[in-house]
Amino acid sequence: MADLSESFFYRPLLSERFGEPAEIAGTVVFLASRESAFTVGIELIIDRGLSRRRIVGHLRAGKELAVKAARIHSFGPPDVVVVEEVPMPSPGLGEVLVRVIAAGVAPWDAIIREGKSKVSPQPPLTLGSDLSGVVEKVGPGVTDLAPADEVYGVTNPQFCGAQAEFAVATAGMVARKPQSLNYLEAASAPVIAVTAWQMLFQYAQAMRGQTVMVVGAAGNVGAYAVQMAVGASIHVVAIARPNDRELLRSFGVNSSIDSSQPAFEQDLPQVDAILDTVGGSVLQRCVARLKPGGKLVTSVSAQPLPPGAVFFYAEVTTARLQTLTTLFDAGRITARVGSILPLPEARQAQAMLAGAPHKSGKIVLQVGHTQQNRSAQQSL
Ligand SMILES: NC(=O)c1ccc[n+]([C@@H]2O[C@H](COP(=O)([O-])OP(=O)(O)OC[C@H]3O[C@@H](n4cnc5c(N)ncnc54)[C@H](OP(=O)(O)O)[C@@H]3O)[C@@H](O)[C@H]2O)c1
Repeated sequence: MADLSESFFYRPLLSERFGEPAEIAGTVVFLASRESAFTVGIELIIDRGLSRRRIVGHLRAGKELAVKAARIHSFGPPDVVVVEEVPMPSPGLGEVLVRVIAAGVAPWDAIIREGKSKVSPQPPLTLGSDLSGVVEKVGPGVTDLAPADEVYGVTNPQFCGAQAEFAVATAGMVARKPQSLNYLEAASAPVIAVTAWQMLFQYAQAMRGQTVMVVGAAGNVGAYAVQMAVGASIHVVAIARPNDRELLRSFGVNSSIDSSQPAFEQDLPQVDAILDTVGGSVLQRCVARLKPGGKLVTSVSAQPLPPGAVFFYAEVTTARLQTLTTLFDAGRITARVGSILPLPEARQAQAMLAGAPHKSGKIVLQVGHTQQNRSAQQSL
């Protein structure tokens, strides 16, 4: 159920159907139809001056439906972001239409916005890849998801399209939302948590009893890598800022190394793998601590790397998300949401990526509402 005052895009339809000047108040009940793009069951009260009456009807909405989205029309600084209306997207083969409740904001959004991504399309485009929400409609060939499923994941391999009221996602890149996470937490997790999982288990192939160095251990990717390693009985050498010591202690890492200290690398033990989320000179100073045959894996692009080092783009799949869901619901990893902004402030969220003050943890846009989400925000 949604308050009519929130369902802005139904207003023109309601006016068209019931006539102006109608003051509309009441509740909209969403009954997503499987047959048409959007047949919406509506129970509402239309206030026409003196008379109040209840109308239960069906509106058939088609191409005139528009949704708000955070878009860019040219590459550039955060100023290029505009929140505007676009046509309601429609899911194609192997895709689902998601009513977005929250969307993540991440460093790769800035890379796309600046035109430095190798994978994103040319503008105009809608920013954002991480999302959580409710499946509204499934496209042909989708059998394991259905309308009303609560999901989280990523839109597509181009990492765009999520920061909108409705988004189309590749069905193979979403999964059912962990029960233990609210929508804000769920939208914060997919790419960074999958990146950490791939770094630790797929590329570094770290195993119980080994020692792994995490460079940038308190960051979004790093914090997941640390939690996953600790949970798998892998020893962690954490390279982090001194003010992140407490956070790392809460993950079970008792000593972290402050990389701003001179010659910090001299006291580091030899490690079986280095997971790097910072790059540059900090990484270079750590590389000598890698055991012969050890694995160096980085999530940071565009940097010179020693022979044998691996850079990769995260591949978010339903199977990997399901693995994360198990870890979340078992309490072995936790999501860390930082600043929360409404969709109309998407430009400010990009400014935060560019250095404007914000809370530590993942920046998340709150796009839609559920009762669960409201109470989550109050408690965050
Ligand atoms: N390849 C992929 O598919 C993929 C996927 C996800 C992320 N990424 C990339 O991975 C990188 C990390 O992403 P993220 O979301 O985890 O970023 P993040 O949250 O900013 O994490 C980086 C962490 O490193 C810390 N840090 C920075 N410089 C440091 C230094 N000299 N010594 C110690 N700690 C330092 C940061 O601390 P402060 O915040 O205090 O500076 C922060 O805690 C980014 O470059 C991102 O674009 C790539």
